[in-house]
Amino acid sequence: MKNKAYTFKKKRTNADMLEHVMIIIFLIIITAFSFRFYMSIDLIKNINNIPQLALDSLIFSLVTLFSIYFFKYMYLIMAKPWFFFRFNYRLNTLFEQLAKNQTVSKKIVFPKVKILHDEKKDIFTFEFFWKGSATNGFEQDVTHRISSVLFPAEDYFLEEPIKKQASTIFKYCRQPRRLKINLQKINNDTIYQRKIRLNSNLFWNLDKQPHATLTGGTGSGKTMMLYYLIYEAAKLNSDIYIVDAKRADLSTLHSVKKIAETTDEIVLLFNELINEMNARFEVIQKSNEPQKHATEFGFNDVFVFIDELAVVVEIAKTTDTDNKALNKLHARDKNWEKLSEDNYSKIISSIRLLIFKSRQVNIHIVLATQNFEASLLGSSSVRDNLSMRILLGNASTVQVNQMGLTQEQLPLFDTSQIGAGIIWMDSMNWVNARSFETPYLNFRNLRPNDILDNYFEIGRKHVNS
Ligand SMILES: Nc1ncnc2c1ncn2[C@@H]1O[C@H](COP(=O)(O)OP(=O)(O)O)[C@@H](O)[C@H]1O
Ligand SMILES: [Mg+2]
Repeated sequence: MKNKAYTFKKKRTNADMLEHVMIIIFLIIITAFSFRFYMSIDLIKNINNIPQLALDSLIFSLVTLFSIYFFKYMYLIMAKPWFFFRFNYRLNTLFEQLAKNQTVSKKIVFPKVKILHDEKKDIFTFEFFWKGSATNGFEQDVTHRISSVLFPAEDYFLEEPIKKQASTIFKYCRQPRRLKINLQKINNDTIYQRKIRLNSNLFWNLDKQPHATLTGGTGSGKTMMLYYLIYEAAKLNSDIYIVDAKRADLSTLHSVKKIAETTDEIVLLFNELINEMNARFEVIQKSNEPQKHATEFGFNDVFVFIDELAVVVEIAKTTDTDNKALNKLHARDKNWEKLSEDNYSKIISSIRLLIFKSRQVNIHIVLATQNFEASLLGSSSVRDNLSMRILLGNASTVQVNQMGLTQEQLPLFDTSQIGAGIIWMDSMNWVNARSFETPYLNFRNLRPNDILDNYFEIGRKHVNS
């Protein structure tokens, strides 16, 4: 039953078809009625028998009609794939609509459509064999209509159409479903090998997409997404570092390896990370296999979660200004230990270095920020190296561009739910971004750090088993 195909051929319009069916029904009834009536013709000799005979004939003709259609549909159920019923009428409707469109109707005359369904991945493939040549403009016009007629419930979304010489292939994938995380009852059945599940269809693969960024306005769900990723990272038995310059939500997660809130702490944290990076490179380079990754030498994945990067930058700049003033004030004081005036550049260059270099040593940077102008990290090439990009809430053109995307690459998406937006992942051969909803977390009365402890325990048990 897997990958069953069905080829649709356009023959009639839906209205014609209805007319056709009505005529057939009428003919069946008339024929069966007459047949039954004729078989008992001798009864008519007695005029009193006629009403009974007419009733009998009518029942007979209706039973015949019912049987014929019963067997017809039995045949269809047996012979055609299940989606025949779903798409036969919709494709008819589609071509009727297209036929009304002047520019399109000249090019599409009753074409053939081959429909395939991949049961395992739940992907529908429609191959439209056009008659005549289909030009670009015309296809764009058609694409939207095809999606809305074939999947009016929007339960499947279109991947980029693939153009062939005489046909176009439209691939429709099941819309991903949002994850609902029960934080009171976490189980260990969802530990994947260096992967983090994002929704029913997608994984964050730590090798393919080493770094990530979350952009979105206040209250769009960035910090909640960070919680989720921190918990999942704990389940993978990773070393976790947190930078929370706002001293807000994430500061309560004491069980991680290190939390930095002040400028000094942040500078120290990044020093430690750079040292860790260099130590890992040294082990790799001394080995016989310099192309291998750190995790292949027994190192854990390291995650650095930075909430509100713009605030981190702002606080560092303020510290530098303050320190400069203090140094000036104590310029004549011999015992005065000079305060650092380049915290900002130290932090930024560390982040840049880690983003550019740490792919092989499995250190992952996750940046959350309201806005991601290139100036934030010095250049746009840093941004391009953040291989998983999530944009939450309504997307402004500027924000879309900051993600390295154009407006045409945006999927249809609905941001009425908090935590909804779009996602882009490198190394996936995607042409367009996809709609995305962050996993839904329900803390109830639980303390975030107690939950983290549970996750760490599950991760440790998994490693030891
Ligand atoms: N994934 C989620 N699951 C449950 N609630 C969420 C989720 N994302 C956001 N929320 C709700 O929205 C509020 C704001 O989200 P938050 O992550 O703090 O936004 P941001 O960090 O972008 O300002 C949260 O306090 C929470 O009530
Ligand atoms: Mg936040």
